[in-house]
Amino acid sequence: MGEIPDADGIGTVGNPVCGDLMTIYIKVKDNRLEDIKFKTFGCGAAIATSSMITEMARGKTLEEAMKITRKDVAENLDGLPPIKMHCSNLAADGLHKAIEDYLEKKGKK
Ligand code: FES
Repeated sequence: MGEIPDADGIGTVGNPVCGDLMTIYIKVKDNRLEDIKFKTFGCGAAIATSSMITEMARGKTLEEAMKITRKDVAENLDGLPPIKMHCSNLAADGLHKAIEDYLEKKGKK
């Protein structure tokens, strides 16, 4: 949890259902996610999914991390109540946006 001041990529996403916000920060080395942190303004499920995606994504290549889906995050938490499923969308979306931000900054996209 927290911010990476010299992050290589940053992704901020908002949840249209409830208005909650999440920012994912990444550090990339040799095409792998060397570090990943989050700041989430949201419910318990949103914070749990933020934390889970950092565990799932750390050490992965950018291509592997891009393949992590909203469903994967919820499943790694052993599921979420149906009413909380929308909360799990932010984590995967935020990660993908941070990677896209990194690729754009590097001129790779
Ligand atoms: Fe907004 Fe869960 S209620 S992310």
